[in-house]
Amino acid sequence: MSYLLEVSGLEKAYGGVKAVNGVSFRVKEQTIFSVIGPNGAGKTTLFNLLTGIERPDSGSILFHEDQLVGLPPFKVALKGISRTFQNLQIFFNMSVVENVMVGCHRLGNASMLSAIFRLPSMLREERLIRHKALKALEFCGMSQMRDKPADSLPYGQLKKLEIARALASEPHLVLLDEPAAGLNDTETVELSELIKKLVENGITVLLVEHNMGLVMDISDEVLVLNYGELLAMGTPSAIQKDPKVVAAYLGEE
Ligand SMILES: Nc1ncnc2c1ncn2[C@@H]1O[C@H](COP(=O)(O)OP(=O)(O)OP(=O)(O)O)[C@@H](O)[C@H]1O
Ligand SMILES: [Mg+2]
Repeated sequence: MSYLLEVSGLEKAYGGVKAVNGVSFRVKEQTIFSVIGPNGAGKTTLFNLLTGIERPDSGSILFHEDQLVGLPPFKVALKGISRTFQNLQIFFNMSVVENVMVGCHRLGNASMLSAIFRLPSMLREERLIRHKALKALEFCGMSQMRDKPADSLPYGQLKKLEIARALASEPHLVLLDEPAAGLNDTETVELSELIKKLVENGITVLLVEHNMGLVMDISDEVLVLNYGELLAMGTPSAIQKDPKVVAAYLGEE
Protein backbone atom coordinates (compact mmCIF):
# COMPACT_ATOMS: atom_id res chain seq x y z
CA MET A 1 0.00 0.00 0.00
CA SER A 2 1.40 3.38 -0.92
CA TYR A 3 0.72 6.50 1.08
CA LEU A 4 0.07 9.99 -0.20
CA LEU A 5 1.53 11.64 2.88
CA GLU A 6 4.16 10.24 5.26
CA VAL A 7 5.08 12.32 8.27
CA SER A 8 7.79 11.20 10.65
CA GLY A 9 9.32 12.59 13.82
CA LEU A 10 7.86 16.04 13.30
CA GLU A 11 8.84 18.60 15.94
CA LYS A 12 8.19 22.30 16.42
CA ALA A 13 8.81 24.28 19.61
CA TYR A 14 7.91 27.90 20.39
CA GLY A 15 10.22 28.93 23.20
CA GLY A 16 9.62 26.33 25.88
CA VAL A 17 6.35 25.05 24.36
CA LYS A 18 6.65 21.90 22.28
CA ALA A 19 3.69 22.59 20.02
CA VAL A 20 4.33 19.45 17.94
CA ASN A 21 6.48 16.84 19.63
CA GLY A 22 7.68 13.84 17.65
CA VAL A 23 4.54 13.17 15.60
CA SER A 24 4.51 10.46 12.92
CA PHE A 25 1.62 9.26 10.76
CA ARG A 26 0.72 8.19 7.23
CA VAL A 27 -2.29 9.10 5.14
CA LYS A 28 -3.67 6.90 2.38
CA GLU A 29 -4.85 8.44 -0.84
CA GLN A 30 -8.57 9.33 -1.12
CA THR A 31 -9.30 9.04 2.58
CA ILE A 32 -10.45 11.39 5.33
CA PHE A 33 -7.81 11.62 8.03
CA SER A 34 -8.82 13.66 11.06
CA VAL A 35 -6.67 15.30 13.70
CA ILE A 36 -8.41 16.01 17.01
CA GLY A 37 -7.27 17.15 20.43
CA PRO A 38 -7.93 19.75 23.11
CA ASN A 39 -7.28 23.47 22.52
CA GLY A 40 -3.57 24.15 22.17
CA ALA A 41 -2.78 20.50 21.34
CA GLY A 42 -0.82 21.52 18.23
CA LYS A 43 -3.34 20.84 15.46
CA THR A 44 -3.00 24.17 13.64
CA THR A 45 0.77 24.09 14.13
CA LEU A 46 0.80 20.69 12.43
CA PHE A 47 -1.11 22.18 9.46
CA ASN A 48 1.33 25.12 9.36
CA LEU A 49 4.24 22.70 9.20
CA LEU A 50 2.61 20.63 6.45
CA THR A 51 1.93 23.71 4.30
CA GLY A 52 5.35 25.36 4.70
CA ILE A 53 4.06 28.31 6.75
CA GLU A 54 6.31 27.11 9.57
CA ARG A 55 9.47 25.07 9.27
CA PRO A 56 9.80 22.08 11.62
CA ASP A 57 12.77 21.91 14.02
CA SER A 58 13.16 18.32 12.86
CA GLY A 59 11.31 15.56 11.08
CA SER A 60 10.27 14.65 7.58
CA ILE A 61 7.17 15.27 5.45
CA LEU A 62 6.93 13.15 2.32
CA PHE A 63 4.17 13.92 -0.17
CA HIS A 64 4.07 11.66 -3.22
CA GLU A 65 7.51 10.62 -1.86
CA ASP A 66 8.83 14.20 -2.27
CA GLN A 67 10.35 15.90 0.76
CA LEU A 68 8.36 19.04 1.65
CA VAL A 69 10.46 20.25 4.59
CA GLY A 70 12.20 23.49 3.63
CA LEU A 71 9.82 24.41 0.81
CA PRO A 72 8.06 27.80 1.02
CA PRO A 73 4.23 27.76 1.05
CA PHE A 74 3.80 28.56 -2.65
CA LYS A 75 5.99 25.59 -3.62
CA VAL A 76 3.99 23.31 -1.31
CA ALA A 77 0.86 24.62 -3.04
CA LEU A 78 2.35 23.85 -6.45
CA LYS A 79 2.88 20.25 -5.33
CA GLY A 80 -0.89 19.96 -4.87
CA ILE A 81 -1.64 20.83 -1.25
CA SER A 82 -4.08 23.54 -0.21
CA ARG A 83 -5.84 24.50 2.99
CA THR A 84 -8.41 26.59 4.77
CA PHE A 85 -7.71 28.61 7.89
CA GLN A 86 -9.21 28.43 11.36
CA ASN A 87 -9.90 32.19 11.17
CA LEU A 88 -11.68 33.23 7.98
CA GLN A 89 -9.31 34.71 5.41
CA ILE A 90 -11.83 36.49 3.20
CA PHE A 91 -11.32 39.67 1.18
CA PHE A 92 -14.61 41.36 2.02
CA ASN A 93 -14.21 44.12 -0.58
CA MET A 94 -14.06 41.55 -3.39
CA SER A 95 -16.70 39.38 -5.02
CA VAL A 96 -17.18 35.71 -4.26
CA VAL A 97 -15.51 34.53 -7.49
CA GLU A 98 -12.62 36.95 -7.01
CA ASN A 99 -12.04 35.50 -3.55
CA VAL A 100 -11.82 32.03 -5.08
CA MET A 101 -9.51 33.25 -7.86
CA VAL A 102 -7.01 34.28 -5.18
CA GLY A 103 -6.58 30.54 -4.54
CA CYS A 104 -4.83 29.98 -7.86
CA HIS A 105 -3.19 33.30 -8.66
CA ARG A 106 0.15 32.31 -7.25
CA LEU A 107 0.07 29.29 -9.54
CA GLY A 108 0.02 31.54 -12.60
CA ASN A 109 3.01 31.94 -14.89
CA ALA A 110 2.37 35.35 -16.45
CA SER A 111 5.17 37.74 -15.56
CA MET A 112 4.76 41.05 -13.79
CA LEU A 113 5.39 42.93 -17.06
CA SER A 114 2.75 41.03 -18.96
CA ALA A 115 0.37 41.74 -16.09
CA ILE A 116 1.13 45.48 -16.16
CA PHE A 117 0.67 45.74 -19.93
CA ARG A 118 -2.23 43.25 -19.93
CA LEU A 119 -0.57 41.18 -22.62
CA PRO A 120 -2.49 38.29 -24.24
CA SER A 121 -0.62 35.71 -22.13
CA MET A 122 -1.84 37.44 -19.00
CA LEU A 123 -5.42 37.71 -20.20
CA ARG A 124 -5.38 34.03 -21.17
CA GLU A 125 -4.16 33.13 -17.73
CA GLU A 126 -6.80 35.33 -16.09
CA ARG A 127 -9.51 33.52 -18.09
CA LEU A 128 -8.14 30.13 -17.08
CA ILE A 129 -8.03 31.10 -13.41
CA ARG A 130 -11.59 32.43 -13.57
CA HIS A 131 -12.69 29.19 -15.20
CA LYS A 132 -11.09 27.13 -12.40
CA ALA A 133 -12.64 29.39 -9.77
CA LEU A 134 -16.12 28.99 -11.28
CA LYS A 135 -15.65 25.23 -11.38
CA ALA A 136 -14.70 25.20 -7.70
CA LEU A 137 -17.75 27.32 -6.81
CA GLU A 138 -19.99 24.98 -8.78
CA PHE A 139 -18.51 21.99 -6.94
CA CYS A 140 -19.43 23.69 -3.65
CA GLY A 141 -22.94 24.55 -4.86
CA MET A 142 -22.23 28.28 -4.84
CA SER A 143 -22.47 29.19 -8.54
CA GLN A 144 -25.45 31.47 -8.03
CA MET A 145 -23.50 33.70 -5.63
CA ARG A 146 -20.42 34.17 -7.74
CA ASP A 147 -20.83 37.89 -8.41
CA LYS A 148 -22.09 38.88 -4.96
CA PRO A 149 -19.79 40.89 -2.74
CA ALA A 150 -18.19 38.57 -0.19
CA ASP A 151 -19.42 40.76 2.67
CA SER A 152 -23.03 39.97 1.75
CA LEU A 153 -22.64 36.26 2.50
CA PRO A 154 -23.72 34.69 5.80
CA TYR A 155 -21.01 33.07 7.91
CA GLY A 156 -21.79 29.50 6.81
CA GLN A 157 -21.35 30.43 3.16
CA LEU A 158 -18.07 32.21 3.91
CA LYS A 159 -16.72 29.01 5.44
CA LYS A 160 -17.70 27.18 2.25
CA LEU A 161 -16.15 29.95 0.14
CA GLU A 162 -12.82 29.18 1.80
CA ILE A 163 -13.17 25.54 0.78
CA ALA A 164 -13.97 26.60 -2.79
CA ARG A 165 -10.81 28.71 -2.80
CA ALA A 166 -8.77 25.76 -1.58
CA LEU A 167 -10.19 23.68 -4.44
CA ALA A 168 -9.49 26.23 -7.18
CA SER A 169 -5.84 25.19 -7.41
CA GLU A 170 -6.97 21.59 -8.13
CA PRO A 171 -5.15 20.06 -5.13
CA HIS A 172 -4.57 16.38 -4.32
CA LEU A 173 -4.57 17.04 -0.59
CA VAL A 174 -6.79 19.55 1.22
CA LEU A 175 -6.29 20.57 4.84
CA LEU A 176 -9.41 21.89 6.57
CA ASP A 177 -8.87 23.64 9.91
CA GLU A 178 -12.16 23.57 11.86
CA PRO A 179 -14.51 23.92 8.86
CA ALA A 180 -17.58 23.23 11.03
CA ALA A 181 -16.82 25.86 13.68
CA GLY A 182 -19.80 28.22 13.94
CA LEU A 183 -22.01 26.21 11.58
CA ASN A 184 -25.56 25.19 12.48
CA ASP A 185 -26.72 21.56 12.22
CA THR A 186 -28.01 21.84 8.65
CA GLU A 187 -24.81 23.52 7.48
CA THR A 188 -22.74 20.85 9.25
CA VAL A 189 -24.59 18.08 7.41
CA GLU A 190 -23.99 19.92 4.11
CA LEU A 191 -20.32 20.26 5.00
CA SER A 192 -19.98 16.56 5.68
CA GLU A 193 -21.58 15.81 2.28
CA LEU A 194 -19.16 18.23 0.62
CA ILE A 195 -16.13 16.61 2.29
CA LYS A 196 -17.30 13.14 1.21
CA LYS A 197 -17.74 14.45 -2.34
CA LEU A 198 -14.14 15.70 -2.31
CA VAL A 199 -12.94 12.18 -1.59
CA GLU A 200 -15.20 10.72 -4.28
CA ASN A 201 -13.45 13.08 -6.68
CA GLY A 202 -10.00 11.78 -5.84
CA ILE A 203 -9.01 14.31 -3.20
CA THR A 204 -7.50 13.35 0.15
CA VAL A 205 -8.69 15.32 3.17
CA LEU A 206 -6.90 16.18 6.40
CA LEU A 207 -9.47 17.48 8.84
CA VAL A 208 -9.00 19.33 12.12
CA GLU A 209 -12.34 19.52 13.95
CA HIS A 210 -13.82 19.86 17.42
CA ASN A 211 -17.20 18.56 16.24
CA MET A 212 -16.83 14.92 17.33
CA GLY A 213 -20.07 13.82 15.68
CA LEU A 214 -18.76 14.97 12.31
CA VAL A 215 -15.28 13.52 12.85
CA MET A 216 -16.52 10.10 13.96
CA ASP A 217 -19.10 10.00 11.15
CA ILE A 218 -16.86 10.69 8.17
CA SER A 219 -13.24 9.85 9.08
CA ASP A 220 -11.34 6.80 7.90
CA GLU A 221 -8.70 7.37 10.53
CA VAL A 222 -8.35 9.68 13.52
CA LEU A 223 -5.17 10.97 15.18
CA VAL A 224 -5.43 12.41 18.68
CA LEU A 225 -2.93 15.07 19.69
CA ASN A 226 -2.40 16.07 23.30
CA TYR A 227 0.21 18.64 24.32
CA GLY A 228 1.89 18.23 20.95
CA GLU A 229 2.20 14.48 21.26
CA LEU A 230 0.40 11.69 19.47
CA LEU A 231 -1.91 10.22 22.11
CA ALA A 232 -3.71 7.69 19.91
CA MET A 233 -4.40 6.86 16.28
CA GLY A 234 -6.94 4.51 14.72
CA THR A 235 -10.42 4.07 13.32
CA PRO A 236 -13.19 6.26 14.79
CA SER A 237 -14.66 3.36 16.76
CA ALA A 238 -11.28 2.38 18.23
CA ILE A 239 -10.55 6.01 19.17
CA GLN A 240 -13.91 6.44 20.88
CA LYS A 241 -13.20 3.42 23.11
CA ASP A 242 -9.59 4.33 23.88
CA PRO A 243 -9.29 5.02 27.64
CA LYS A 244 -6.38 7.45 27.06
CA VAL A 245 -8.52 9.53 24.72
CA VAL A 246 -11.53 9.50 27.04
CA ALA A 247 -9.30 10.62 29.91
CA ALA A 248 -7.72 13.45 27.89
CA TYR A 249 -11.14 14.80 26.92
CA LEU A 250 -12.75 14.38 30.32
CA GLY A 251 -9.67 15.95 31.87
CA GLU A 252 -10.20 18.95 29.66
CA GLU A 253 -13.73 19.68 30.82
N1 LIG B 1 3.38 31.38 16.45
C1 LIG B 1 3.39 30.91 17.70
N2 LIG B 1 4.18 31.46 18.65
C2 LIG B 1 4.20 30.98 19.91
N3 LIG B 1 3.46 29.94 20.33
C3 LIG B 1 2.64 29.36 19.46
C4 LIG B 1 2.55 29.81 18.09
N4 LIG B 1 1.65 29.03 17.43
C5 LIG B 1 1.20 28.15 18.35
N5 LIG B 1 1.78 28.34 19.55
C6 LIG B 1 1.55 27.53 20.77
O1 LIG B 1 1.65 26.17 20.38
C7 LIG B 1 0.65 25.39 21.03
C8 LIG B 1 -0.20 24.71 19.97
O2 LIG B 1 -1.03 25.68 19.34
P1 LIG B 1 -1.99 25.34 18.13
O3 LIG B 1 -2.56 26.61 17.65
O4 LIG B 1 -1.26 24.51 17.16
O5 LIG B 1 -3.12 24.47 18.85
P2 LIG B 1 -4.49 23.90 18.27
O6 LIG B 1 -4.49 22.44 18.58
O7 LIG B 1 -4.69 24.32 16.89
O8 LIG B 1 -5.56 24.60 19.25
P3 LIG B 1 -7.08 25.10 18.93
O9 LIG B 1 -7.95 23.88 19.04
O10 LIG B 1 -7.36 26.06 20.04
O11 LIG B 1 -7.08 25.74 17.59
C9 LIG B 1 -0.10 26.34 21.95
O12 LIG B 1 0.47 26.25 23.23
C10 LIG B 1 0.13 27.70 21.31
O13 LIG B 1 0.07 28.71 22.28
MG1 LIG C 1 -6.07 25.47 15.90
